[in-house]
Amino acid sequence: MKLLLTGGAGYIGSHVLLSCLEAGHDAIVLDDFSNSSREALTRVEALTGRHFSLYEGDIRDATMLEQIFKDNKIDAVLHFAGLKAVGESVQKPLDYYDVNVGGSVTLAKAMAQAGVYRVVFSSTASVYGDQEKMPLTEENVPGEAASPYARTKRMVEQVFEDLCISDQRWSVAILRYFNPVGAHPSGQIGEDPLGEPANLAPFAMQVAVGRRQSLAVFGDDYPTPDGTGVRDYIHVMDLAEGHLAAVNFLTKNSGFGVWNLGTGRGHSVLDVVRELENITGKPLPKRIASRRPGDTAQCWADPSRAATDLGWKAKRGLSDMLTDHWRWQEQNPKGYNK
Ligand code: NAD
Ligand code: WQD
Repeated sequence: MKLLLTGGAGYIGSHVLLSCLEAGHDAIVLDDFSNSSREALTRVEALTGRHFSLYEGDIRDATMLEQIFKDNKIDAVLHFAGLKAVGESVQKPLDYYDVNVGGSVTLAKAMAQAGVYRVVFSSTASVYGDQEKMPLTEENVPGEAASPYARTKRMVEQVFEDLCISDQRWSVAILRYFNPVGAHPSGQIGEDPLGEPANLAPFAMQVAVGRRQSLAVFGDDYPTPDGTGVRDYIHVMDLAEGHLAAVNFLTKNSGFGVWNLGTGRGHSVLDVVRELENITGKPLPKRIASRRPGDTAQCWADPSRAATDLGWKAKRGLSDMLTDHWRWQEQNPKGYNK
């Protein structure tokens, strides 16, 4: 199949791109490189020995989208492009509504105009907000999302749902990722955040590699087994395989579907620290800090719907994720910037 990956140079997009190429699909990447590097794409080409087209541009550019769909007979779109920092979304909500919601609407219009109706959309577990009952099933979505970021993702889910109701040619897979961690086992591609990482694994990795002094553990008084926050960390290569399964599903089914992509297991911040210390063989400098505003105590998936419908299950555990993430970080201490 010929697949268009918006945001294909980003952390998750680049790993999915690699898996798509290895599975024999043709790919086209659209990215504005606002949060990624061309080097990621160069490395995917080197790892796969496959070439793909690149359009540098913005998903909000309707004229460019029209051109992409004119130039290429695209079978399905994997839509990763967007802004993803929860804290920043509170400071700059208009950017988030503009890029995430406006950009997705512009993309959906261009798809409909070109007669392309299959799309996989990157949603997030943050649409579930703060809940007590675990694991989270796809129906658990509260009426009100917890941040502007989560609201934009929920809105785009609803836009695609409405499209499926309006026109039966649409075939939409909403994938709600839990906490993506890890890298391709080659250590050649991985997560390369700009500035200070907002997430646990990249921050801890930068401490381990000596780029930062110590990890702040945000709260040790949560109602969890060791008092620190519990999350469902999922290997980015498992996510990539989930996308291949979703694309395959879309070729055989139409309509709207939502799937959690998680392992179904929760790990605490201290579990992550301990595992990383085992892998690097050295203690990780850390201190207990106050809770981060907006954080929830715990969050993990019920991934059984994806197993039933898509035939997908996460295969890799916390140790695999952190081993692969560490290999990437150690081989590329400054990320793609050498
Ligand atoms: P990322 O920032 O690494 O990748 C996003 C890519 O989109 C980047 O390459 C960026 O340059 C590009 N982009 C941003 N705005 C664009 C625009 N207007 N036009 C064209 N390209 C644009 O993020 P990621 O971690 O790979 O996340 C991919 C998707 O998955 C995002 O939609 C994100 O919200 C979602 N998601 C991520 C996580 C996570 O923790 N990483 C969790 C759940 C969901
Ligand atoms: C994990 C745990 C923190 C950093 C976010 C988004 C979510 C999704 C994934 C995009 C929590 C603790 C963290 C640190 C810490 N992204 N922590 N010190 O908040 O679960 O999810 O990323 O869609 O939408 O909300 O991930 O990695 O930031 O935090 O102690 O320096 O690590 O308190 O318990 P989170 P995270």
